Amino acid sequence: MDRLQKVIAQAGIASRRKAEQLIEEGKVKVNGKIVTELGTKVSASDKVEVEGIPVERERKVYYLFYKPRGVISAVEDDKGRKVVTDYFPFVEERIFPIGRLDYDTSGLMILTNDGEFANLLAHPRYKIEKTYVARVNGIPQRHLLKRLAAGVELEDGKTAPAKVKELSVDKKKGRALIEITIHEGRNRQVRRMFEAIGFQVQKLKRERFAFLHTKGLNAGDYRELTAHEVKQLRTLAETGSLR
Ligand code: URA
Repeated sequence: MDRLQKVIAQAGIASRRKAEQLIEEGKVKVNGKIVTELGTKVSASDKVEVEGIPVERERKVYYLFYKPRGVISAVEDDKGRKVVTDYFPFVEERIFPIGRLDYDTSGLMILTNDGEFANLLAHPRYKIEKTYVARVNGIPQRHLLKRLAAGVELEDGKTAPAKVKELSVDKKKGRALIEITIHEGRNRQVRRMFEAIGFQVQKLKRERFAFLHTKGLNAGDYRELTAHEVKQLRTLAETGSLR
């Protein structure tokens, strides 16, 4: 059961506030009867009309997408660049990405048409871990990686403790692959963290999002999340654990 104003807002007819206004003005009917009570809840089988026009109620969909580099994490781009929803030509629901990845960053994102779920994951009560693999220009010494893990000072404040692991070093090419797990989601955070210890990130991939990983997906691929995975993500965001 959802609140009437939410159903109208989710259908994209009006903002939640405008929807409330429409309800109060007597312009909304539920099963043929005018409803002016703001708290009214409706189920999927209730027929909602706004100014005589039936409200289409989309089924909620949830996708795990492996964003390639060179794609904007948005549903449209004013410069005409490729956007994540270009990879979903056969999905009719109006999906959008939760959170963002830089244009040059590849890796996992979730797309959905469920605004409430998106808010929950974008602003979880308990922070969700995201694991990145960064290729950096140079080979950071151990004490610098320890600094990264402890938290570095950025212009928007010190970063929370992170898990940091050196995966490999290429001495000939003078570069290293470092895995870093963070639970904050600041703009360009991983790139800025490495800059703070004196390294440039040349390539960045988000390899895990909570318990979800890229295994079985190539860049540009997506799959539907299972109902169980959606439930687990909700539980993680709300309680911080899967129990
Ligand atoms: N950190 C970054 O620097 N970029 C991203 O896209 C994600 C995390």
